[in-house]
Amino acid sequence: MGVPLNRRRVLLTGATGGLGRAIARALHARGATVVATGRREDALAQLHAELGDRIEPRVADLAAHDGVAALAERAGRVDVLVANAALPASGRLATFAAEEIDRALDVNLRAPMQLARALIPAMGERGQGHLVFVSSLNGKVPSAGTSVYTATKYGLRGFAASLRAELAGTGVGASAVFPSFIAEAGMWADTRIELPLGVRLPSPDDVAAAVVRAIENGHGEIDVAPIPLRVSAALAGVAPGLVAAVGRRLGAGEVADRAAAAQRSKR
Ligand SMILES: NC(=O)c1ccc[n+]([C@@H]2O[C@H](COP(=O)([O-])OP(=O)(O)OC[C@H]3O[C@@H](n4cnc5c(N)ncnc54)[C@H](OP(=O)(O)O)[C@@H]3O)[C@@H](O)[C@H]2O)c1
Repeated sequence: MGVPLNRRRVLLTGATGGLGRAIARALHARGATVVATGRREDALAQLHAELGDRIEPRVADLAAHDGVAALAERAGRVDVLVANAALPASGRLATFAAEEIDRALDVNLRAPMQLARALIPAMGERGQGHLVFVSSLNGKVPSAGTSVYTATKYGLRGFAASLRAELAGTGVGASAVFPSFIAEAGMWADTRIELPLGVRLPSPDDVAAAVVRAIENGHGEIDVAPIPLRVSAALAGVAPGLVAAVGRRLGAGEVADRAAAAQRSKR
């Protein structure tokens, strides 16, 4: 069961990012009011200047535990949560400082769980609501050089699917969206690494359209990926070791190392 977006209030995290901006535009175009969050006040102001009314900026740091709790209160009534913010947290485990792992867990996994915990009771009282968790195809496919990020994205998948089962019959739904590498904007496009895949990568607008579909139609899981990557994600569900080994053969570890170097400043 989905929730129509027209005249609904959506709390969107990561609204200042490459995918978040596209998601904000798509939600706004469906008639929703978007409570848009991120740390960068100037980027939130830009979004507000572009879309005008029905964008409510809220600066918040999701790595700060009190910041997450305060955001849930400052957001006002929330009909839909889109938990989209994340750190790339790329790189081999041995290269992480202890506090970098904590920050990745806080932003990518803890904040979505705490926001869900805080917002679900009021949705339940109204008998309607929806939560979308933006995971990643890395939440289905193991790969060298992404262990911390992949752990947070597998975690988000399990959380969304179990929460969906927990909420059955309450009028509140939960979905997860799984983007592959995304072109044009966002944490992958920012690395400027060319993939030797020979397939068209999805755009931020494709991810935004999937988020809208998840909310309005109540889908449980949506992949946003070229067909070969969807196939490898499906195969990873039954044979994760095999898919990781094939990825190693195809040089996925080297690509991950280059991405980690490009994304180091986001740790
Ligand atoms: N782009 C891709 O190819 C791709 C592929 C698969 C999955 N995804 C997922 O899609 C989502 C969006 O990614 P993106 O590509 O748009 O990334 P991005 O361009 O790097 O943006 C990340 C967003 O997260 C916010 N954020 C980071 N740390 C934060 C913190 N401590 N507190 C509050 N907000 C914080 C950033 O806001 P501020 O900087 O303003 O704080 C920004 O809005 C993520 O969940 C990502 O894992 C992306």
